[in-house]
Amino acid sequence: MSVQAAGRKPPLLVYVNIPFCNSKCHFCDWVAQVPIGDLRLGPDSPGRRGHLDALRAQIAAHGPDLAQRYRPEVMYWGGGTASILSLAEIESLHDALAGALPLDDVTEATIESSPESLTLEKLRLLRERGFNRISIGVQSFDDDRLRMIGRVHSARTARASIDLARQAGFDNVNIDLIIGFPDQDLAEVEAMISHAASLPVNHYSIYAYRASQGTVLRRRLDRAGRRTDLRKQLDAYRLASAILTESGYPEYTFAYFGAPICLADLSYYQMKLDWIGFGSGSFSVLGGHIKGFASGKMHHYIASPAEFDYDVPLSDQSQAANLIGFALTTPAGVDAQVYLERTGTSLWTALELPEVREYLDQLCQHGRLITDEAGIRFARDDIAKVFISMNWIDQPPAAAQENLGMPAPVPA
Ligand SMILES: C[S@@+](CC[C@H](N)C(=O)[O-])C[C@H]1O[C@@H](n2cnc3c(N)ncnc32)[C@H](O)[C@@H]1O
Ligand code: SF4
Repeated sequence: MSVQAAGRKPPLLVYVNIPFCNSKCHFCDWVAQVPIGDLRLGPDSPGRRGHLDALRAQIAAHGPDLAQRYRPEVMYWGGGTASILSLAEIESLHDALAGALPLDDVTEATIESSPESLTLEKLRLLRERGFNRISIGVQSFDDDRLRMIGRVHSARTARASIDLARQAGFDNVNIDLIIGFPDQDLAEVEAMISHAASLPVNHYSIYAYRASQGTVLRRRLDRAGRRTDLRKQLDAYRLASAILTESGYPEYTFAYFGAPICLADLSYYQMKLDWIGFGSGSFSVLGGHIKGFASGKMHHYIASPAEFDYDVPLSDQSQAANLIGFALTTPAGVDAQVYLERTGTSLWTALELPEVREYLDQLCQHGRLITDEAGIRFARDDIAKVFISMNWIDQPPAAAQENLGMPAPVPA
C-alpha cells in the first residue's frame, strides 16, 4: 500500500491493560473484580508471565488485520498500573506491538503509573520507546490520607516521581488526585490542589470520590452508616477547579484540567476513533462492535487471548446509554452525525429507548440538557454537577436528592 493510501486509513487507539498493582487501594473501583492474589503478582510469577505471553499472542493474532485497516494514532498503557512492568517486560511488550503495528504515526503515547513504581531508568526506557505522556496516580499529598486509602507511597515519593519524570524528558505530565472523601474538609482540598498547582505538572485529573461497591472504603462507610455528601463533593470540586483555573489550568472537559488535552480519553468519550484493547479486562470498539474480556478473569484470558469474551454491535440498545453518557461528560456532548456513523443508529432513535430515557431523566435532574440539530449536550456549567451526582447511582434516589436538595428535573 502506498504512503498516501496508508494516510487515508482511519486512526486507531491502541490500549494495553496491565491488571497488576503494588496495592489494592481501599477506594479503587477499577480493579474491584480482580482477586488481590492476581493483582499483586510479581514479574517472576507464572500468572504474570502468562499474562505477558497472552498479550503477545493477542497482539500477534489481531495485529496484521488491524495494520491493514487502521493507522495507530494514540497509544495508552493503563491498568491497574502499567508502570509496574519491569524493564524486560516493557521491552518485550513494546517489541511485540511495534512488530505487529505501525507505531510511527502515534502522536500521543501515555503510560499510566503509580509513584512508587517509577525509577529514572524505567522512565528513560519509556521515553526511548516513544512514550511522550505520563499519568501518575498521586491521589493526595497528605501522608495520613494516603495511608488511610491504602496507598503504598508517601507524598514525598509522589513529588519525587514527578521530578524523575521531568528529568527523564517527559514534558507532558498528568497527576490524578481525588477529592470528596466523606471526612475531607475544604482546607485539605485547598492545601492539596494549591500544592499540586505549584509542581512541574501540566495536566490534572481531579476525580470526585465514588463510594463504589466491592471496595474496602465503601464497606467501611456502610458499616458506619455513612455516605458521601454530594454538596460537599461539589464544593470541593468547584474549589479545586477555581484554584487550577487561576493557576493557568482551566478545565477543558469534565475532571480534566490543563493542556495539552488527553487525546486518548477525549477521543474515546467523543467516539472519534476505533480502539483495540489488549489485555485481561480490556475492551475494544472496532468496526461498529464493542468486544472485550471480563475484568478479573485473567486466567481465562491467558487460556484464550485471541477470543473476545463478548462481542456486541454498538447499535445494540444495551450500549446506547453508556455511549451517550460518556459523550455527555464532554462540553461537545453527543454529535448526532458521529453517533450515526459509529453505531449505525440515529441518535434520535436511541434517545427513545426506555433505558436511555430513564438514564437521561436521572441526569436531567441535575443539569440543563441542550438539544439542537447537531446533537445533545449539557450546559457547560452543569456537567460537573450532573456527573458528580451520578456517583450516587447505586444509592436510593430519594437519599441522593435529599443529600443535595436537588432542583426539579429540567426538561430537555
Ligand atoms: C486505573 S487508576 C490508575 C492509577 C494508578 N494505578 C495509581 O493508582 O497510581 C486511575 C485513577 O482512577 C481514580 N480512581 C480509582 N477509583 C476511584 C474512585 N472510587 N473514586 C474516584 N476516583 C477513583 C484514581 O485517581 C486513579 O489514579
Ligand atoms: S488506584 Fe491504581 S494502584 Fe490502586 S488499586 Fe487502583 S489501579 Fe491499582
